Amino acid sequence: MLTIKENYSLREHNSFGLDVKARYFVEYESEEDLVKFLSETDTAGLPMFHIGSGSDLLFTKDYDGYLLHSAVRGVEVAGNDGDNAVLVVGAAEIWDDFVQWSISNGYYGLENMSLIPSEVGAAAVQNIGAYGTEVKDYIVCVDCVDLRDGSIVSFSAEDCGFDYRHSHFKGQWRGWYAVTRVTFSLPIRFIPNLHYRGLMELPQEGLTAQAVRDAVISMRQSKLPDPSILGNAGSFFLNPIISLDKYESLRLQYPDIPHFPVPSTGGTLNAVGEVKVPAAWLIEHAGWKGRSLGRAGVYEFQPLVLVNLGGATPDEIVALAARIIDDVSRKFGITLKPEAIYI
Ligand code: EPU
Repeated sequence: MLTIKENYSLREHNSFGLDVKARYFVEYESEEDLVKFLSETDTAGLPMFHIGSGSDLLFTKDYDGYLLHSAVRGVEVAGNDGDNAVLVVGAAEIWDDFVQWSISNGYYGLENMSLIPSEVGAAAVQNIGAYGTEVKDYIVCVDCVDLRDGSIVSFSAEDCGFDYRHSHFKGQWRGWYAVTRVTFSLPIRFIPNLHYRGLMELPQEGLTAQAVRDAVISMRQSKLPDPSILGNAGSFFLNPIISLDKYESLRLQYPDIPHFPVPSTGGTLNAVGEVKVPAAWLIEHAGWKGRSLGRAGVYEFQPLVLVNLGGATPDEIVALAARIIDDVSRKFGITLKPEAIYI
């Protein structure tokens, strides 16, 4: 089934809770429905964009085009070789429900990514990650409909160009594909990943994936605002990656500036001469933690998160982000990049 709604409020489809509208909002339950829609619809030159749960988006104005949303559901166990299970999951499944389902059914690896607000399709597009784990490491392939010609295609994880919070779907392929299903390979033996501060302290003896999930959930709840109470898009900015030289020169001026290894260097600090610095620290030390501009604010417990203090307009969020980028750049010579996609 496919439904089209006209002049549709997107308030429930963006976690900032911005009151913007889509000229057409299209929801489809199967690949066939979407293919049929693409072949039969004359879009009259209007743009088309696909969204997930809207938790990583900033609508800067009403969307004058076709906004697509998947309603493709289902979790299918497609194989189990005694080490790993292969799961094929509909793009519209709620990410965190899938994480809980996988743990309850004895499939592991996703527990560190508990409570990330996303849908399964968007999780692949975004390469979501948290507490030392990235979803790309569990993805086998991503099934899509090509929005340009209605063909059905499947990409291996390698094809997708996954990187820190990035994939080709967000980059060079932006706007080309609707992700319909994601295939995962999950280990059936639980091997905890406890490298991240806050998880290291968990008692190792008899530790279960459910206990790790519970710890991750309580950590997230203590640091990150609940979008149903305070609209937000999670981390609004990426943590910038800078050269070791740049870091050393900043450290002369700011001896306590933190840094983390860039994961793609294999954990060493200087293999490619780059380190990651927390945007949260830069924003806090540029004086923005807990401050606001109009009805847009910087979350008091985690300055990486911008919040809608109530009734904010897209312009207010855009203006706040621009001011922060400007101030951080002037103070530290680092240009923060939004993780949230501006539409
Ligand atoms: N920090 C401050 N001031 C603060 C808070 C943090 O200076 O008020 C500094 C501290 O040095 C701290 C560092 O920032 O050690 C890192 O903070 P945290 O561990 O909370 O992680 P993060 O870099 O802020 C990233 C992800 C989160 C993810 C956590 C845990 C990005 C852009 N964000 O945040 O992802 O949950 O690590 O893995 O990579 C999201 O994508 O929406 C998201 C929340």
